Amino acid sequence: MDKIIVEGGKRLRGTIPISGAKNAALTLIPCALLTDEPLTLRNLPRLADIDGFQHLMNQFGVTTVIQGSRPEDFGRVMTLEATRITGTVAPYDLVRKMRASILVLGPMLARMGQAKVSLPGGCAIGNRPIDLHLKALAAFGAVIEIAAGYVAAHAPDGGLPGGEFDFPVVSVGATENALMAAVLASGTCRLFNAAREPEIVDLCNLLVAMGAQIEGIGTSDLTIHGVPRLHGATYKVMADRIEAGSYACAAAITGGEVLLQGASFEEMASTIHALRNIGVHAKAEAGGVRVSADGKLQAVNLTTAPYPGLATDMQAQLMALLTVAEGTSVLNETIFENRYMHVPELNRMGAHIETSGRTAIVHGVGKLTGAEVMATDLRASMSLVIAGLAAEGQTEVRRLYHLDRGYERLEEKLALVGAQVERVGDE
Ligand code: EPZ
Repeated sequence: MDKIIVEGGKRLRGTIPISGAKNAALTLIPCALLTDEPLTLRNLPRLADIDGFQHLMNQFGVTTVIQGSRPEDFGRVMTLEATRITGTVAPYDLVRKMRASILVLGPMLARMGQAKVSLPGGCAIGNRPIDLHLKALAAFGAVIEIAAGYVAAHAPDGGLPGGEFDFPVVSVGATENALMAAVLASGTCRLFNAAREPEIVDLCNLLVAMGAQIEGIGTSDLTIHGVPRLHGATYKVMADRIEAGSYACAAAITGGEVLLQGASFEEMASTIHALRNIGVHAKAEAGGVRVSADGKLQAVNLTTAPYPGLATDMQAQLMALLTVAEGTSVLNETIFENRYMHVPELNRMGAHIETSGRTAIVHGVGKLTGAEVMATDLRASMSLVIAGLAAEGQTEVRRLYHLDRGYERLEEKLALVGAQVERVGDE
């Protein structure tokens, strides 16, 4: 297993190209199942999870062609073609490696009238149930069965009749599955209290480009009028607002100045609001967002919430920044039940953080000290890299496979702005 060695103390300066959004790509790729025509996705990030989803699609007989991208380029182009679907089962050994595989349930059900997906287990940050995915599909008329670790969904002959579902809890994945099931329904489907994340808007925009009829895009009330078929499309994946927010924290903690090329100021609004309260400067600039800090950081209180609130995926990275802010910050993680595993590792670097349930109290310290630390989940591992960039001495972050799931060529991008980082194989 690889590890990254970070030499702290370098101010980051320059431009970082922001990749296509992992959490948009993972819901756009299964849309290929909804048509027998080619779907071309541009600006795909080069990430382990994207490769994993490509492999899963191939299992269903979907052809996938990667076009015209040199190794050094960012933003891959992939054309997927589901002319003939040869299988409707997503097996355990693939789903267990990538829980986003559950997002084939809705589109496969819509296209084939049936789908069977291994129940995704939990993960480090929580048990991640899928009850809302299944309730939404059932509300649209699907018959759902759970047996032997699999969920099987069937549509009545003639397709899903339609219906409505009011989400008791905002769920990004369940909203995505419901949307992809609804677009080919024989009736109309309505969702209330649906997720409004930019990745959901990206999904709706792709589906409309494929011929779907969706009203209320960008709001929490969505109406989908089913259509008999969808056609192919070419679509550019949105920029990764979480990757951009992560590098904004990296620039800020080093007292540097970085242009996040391709980032969307609007989509990063809640992160930018938090950063500005901490004392970080951020402004929209041609083609991106410029972030800078002059070293004096202030403690703030943060609570994660569904969009447009502060993204839970930014909590660990902002916490790393707050470890060296002046004063005491209180963080409240309202989305996942176990998303503080970066805390003991940050404390080993000299941070002073206490947690109780979903609350973390971050007492700002004067400095961090490099240490050997362990990544436990995707965003936690990025928070350790961010801390390492400011720490005195060397920080070794192990179990990089977590990072590689969500950050394309991280060490290359950090080196572009002057960080001293090196990836080495673990002995
Ligand atoms: C998506 O996960 C993202 N993943 C997560 O990003 C992100 O943290 C999360 O949305 C919240 O924004 C992808 O898009 C691939 P949810 P998802 O359904 O869809 C509960 C990252 O770091 N819930 O919105 O799984 C759930 O337990 C990853 O990039 C149910 O109770 O999140 C959680 O408490 C991590 N029943 C809350 O809802 C369900 O059926 C929000 O989960 C579904 C969810």
